[in-house]
Amino acid sequence: MNTLALRLFAIWLVVFGSVGISLASEFFSEAEKTIIQSFGPWPPPLIADPSNSVSQNSEAISLGKKLFSERRLSLGRDLACSDCHAPDQFFTDGTALNSAHGRATRNTPGLLNLRWSSWFGWGGAADSLWAQSIRPLLSKEEMKFTGKKLRELFSEDIALTQKVQELFEISVVDQSDEALFVIVGKLLAAYEETLISGLSEFDRFNVALSASDNIGIESYLATAKRGLKIFIGKGRCNLCHFGPTFTNGEFGDIGVTQFITKGRIDKGRYQGIKALQSSPFNLLGEYNDDQQGTSRVRTEHVTLQHRNWGEFKIPSLRNAVKTAPYMHNGSIETLAGVVEFYSNLDEERLHIRGEKILRTLNLTPQEKKDLVAFLRTL
Ligand code: HEC
Ligand code: HEC
Repeated sequence: MNTLALRLFAIWLVVFGSVGISLASEFFSEAEKTIIQSFGPWPPPLIADPSNSVSQNSEAISLGKKLFSERRLSLGRDLACSDCHAPDQFFTDGTALNSAHGRATRNTPGLLNLRWSSWFGWGGAADSLWAQSIRPLLSKEEMKFTGKKLRELFSEDIALTQKVQELFEISVVDQSDEALFVIVGKLLAAYEETLISGLSEFDRFNVALSASDNIGIESYLATAKRGLKIFIGKGRCNLCHFGPTFTNGEFGDIGVTQFITKGRIDKGRYQGIKALQSSPFNLLGEYNDDQQGTSRVRTEHVTLQHRNWGEFKIPSLRNAVKTAPYMHNGSIETLAGVVEFYSNLDEERLHIRGEKILRTLNLTPQEKKDLVAFLRTL
């Protein structure tokens, strides 16, 4: 800034600054400020995954990064993780349902901030990032890979085999097919854990709010502030989307259709629990590297209940502006569409099977705009 601009700014501060300051601090009550603070600090501490012996190992991370875009991990050598989880699209594919190999029935989620997740996939069919990373390799709709093909890859790629043998202190030829898939899954997971989003506009505002830094507070859009007030107030969004990742990490039923096509139903968490419990790769099995055993506890407590029918993972809302389309089936194209959906919820239909905390919000056009403006800053 030149000196004139500086002087004008100083005058502006004296004349309007104090007005701005009093407005900013009065806009949120103390109770609201406490809730807002619980969305930070960002990022939370990063603790190594005890179930994965190569979590946070730098060589495993760089090997996992290579494997993430390795098409030789698919039957036709034509599909890599990065083809659906594109790094330049926040690890999504930007489409409602991917049709790379047959038509997927679920939307491709982004892969940021997953170290803080306990369940993976829209139905929570996996309880670790490494187990979830094995799923697409074996899926008939996705990479269709086989143990035989994985062995072929190891025998043709000597450099890969050597690195793997050093890292895991094993000999590749002695391993079962299952154990080899676990190795690939753990390398991929080591990389995926490093995908963490940077500070958002909201985080900067939150830091400023905690520090009573009024200039920082004022630089956050007024419309986003009003949207935040709705999010934690009459919208009650934070009952499910809370904490630094904006999700409680569990599952909910908000009434998005379960129909895939006429007569075909996605049972969500219900089929997720079944798949989890029958998987050889779950944390109760032999591939969990956790010596203490604490990582098993959550999975031990899972029981199949009727209400799990139609529940889906409560997604994080960080970077939501970049990860359209939305919902487990990609059925809503924009954030404005999501807000419209919550505003018009059909309570009667929902409460037969869904969440009791949700209610029709009937937001005004301005309130809808404000809520969208807030979501865009996450
Ligand atoms: C054909 C597209 C496609 C490919 C290829 C693919 N994914 Fe996915 N990914 C998906 C879809 C769809 C889901 C949601 C699956 C579900 O809910 O069951 C998903 C879910 C995930 C999740 C769970 C995210 C969360 O928020 O719970 C992780 C982690 C993941 N994929 C990692 C990978 C890795 C690693 C690879 C490569 C080995 C890979 N994906 C290959 C489409 C794909
Ligand atoms: C009862 C728990 C619950 C409440 C309350 C709730 N949500 Fe959700 N939210 C979910 C679930 C579950 C999904 C995924 C549903 C699906 O895919 O079928 C979701 C999905 C979303 C998505 C899509 C994210 C994506 O990546 O696909 C957005 C955005 C969102 N919610 C915002 C909000 C807002 C704004 C509010 C408040 C008006 C709110 N939510 C209230 C549980 C909740």
